[in-house]
Amino acid sequence: MSVLVTGGAGYIGSATVEMLLAKGEKVVVLDNLSRGHREAVREGVPFYQGDVCDQELVTKIAREHAVDACVHFAAFAYVGESVAEPLRYFENNSAEGVSFLEALIRAGVKRIVFSSTCATYGEPKTVPITESHPQWPANPYGWTKFFMERILESCDRAYGLKFVALRYFNAAGATERCGEVHSPETHLIPNVLAAACGRLPHVEVYGNDYPTPDGTAVRDYIHIEDLGSAHILALDYLAAGNESNFFNLGTGRGNSVLEVIQAARRVSGKEIQTEFRPRRPGDPSHLVAGADKARNVLGWKPAFESIDEIIRTAWEWQMSHPKGYAAA
Ligand SMILES: NC(=O)c1ccc[n+]([C@@H]2O[C@H](COP(=O)([O-])OP(=O)(O)OC[C@H]3O[C@@H](n4cnc5c(N)ncnc54)[C@H](O)[C@@H]3O)[C@@H](O)[C@H]2O)c1
Repeated sequence: MSVLVTGGAGYIGSATVEMLLAKGEKVVVLDNLSRGHREAVREGVPFYQGDVCDQELVTKIAREHAVDACVHFAAFAYVGESVAEPLRYFENNSAEGVSFLEALIRAGVKRIVFSSTCATYGEPKTVPITESHPQWPANPYGWTKFFMERILESCDRAYGLKFVALRYFNAAGATERCGEVHSPETHLIPNVLAAACGRLPHVEVYGNDYPTPDGTAVRDYIHIEDLGSAHILALDYLAAGNESNFFNLGTGRGNSVLEVIQAARRVSGKEIQTEFRPRRPGDPSHLVAGADKARNVLGWKPAFESIDEIIRTAWEWQMSHPKGYAAA
């Protein structure tokens, strides 16, 4: 199968590219490097630096590489930034997404795996959150992905574009080659580990008055390799002629911010200072996946069971890449 991976120089995309290559698939990457790293994609993999809304470029890639299917990771993905700059998010994630789909469909690509998110559910009414939970995002980022899901449904009806929308919970961990490097970094685990190795003086904990056991927000952390394997299963599911579908990707296990920090202390053996700050706008209290559907329908089995195992891979990556990709 020849697979176009948008956002393949990003955190989850680069790990998935590696896994697709290991499976023997042909891969071509499109990324504008606004948030990604050229070094995250190994030499020899066809790489195009450009925007997903560049229809001429998408058409050229689809034709020249005889693309059968696409995994569409490219997006901006910071909740707080989306609250501060909503139009930038609607433009990049939804408007550019529409142009991208138009070019794909015109080029005859009829299968797409889309990076959606648990942020499409908003503040949960019931936990664990299953795919049938009502969707009412709590922030613009979540809405950009919600709209893309609805747009994909319409494109299926109108043009027969088959899609799998994977609603990831919190991506975490690293592979030997690929780790999390964002600037600025707003995700918890890389910041906790930066504090563990002295690159940050302390970790900021946003909110200790949530209705959770220790007052800090609870999230479901899923390893990027487990996300990668779900994308491969989703591509196979579409190649087998199945109908469009939505799946949660999480472990079904929640960890609070303080539990993550405690796990990072165990893994790293370092002291980690914390400072409490007010809640961030748009951050729900408790997001934990009901992920049985992906297990039952796709046959997905996440390999990383505990938060300690996940953090260990991220810690090892930080130790071997102290300056991120720059020094790799
Ligand atoms: N990280 C998470 O916990 C998480 C959770 C749920 C969903 N997601 C989704 O997964 C996807 C990947 O997330 P990530 O954490 O790897 O993010 P990332 O920022 O590391 O990767 C995204 C990549 O897309 C590229 N990109 C962004 N806009 C583009 C555009 N218009 N044209 C071309 N390239 C563009 C960036 O340069 C970057 O390399 C995103 O769609 C995100 O919304 C992530």
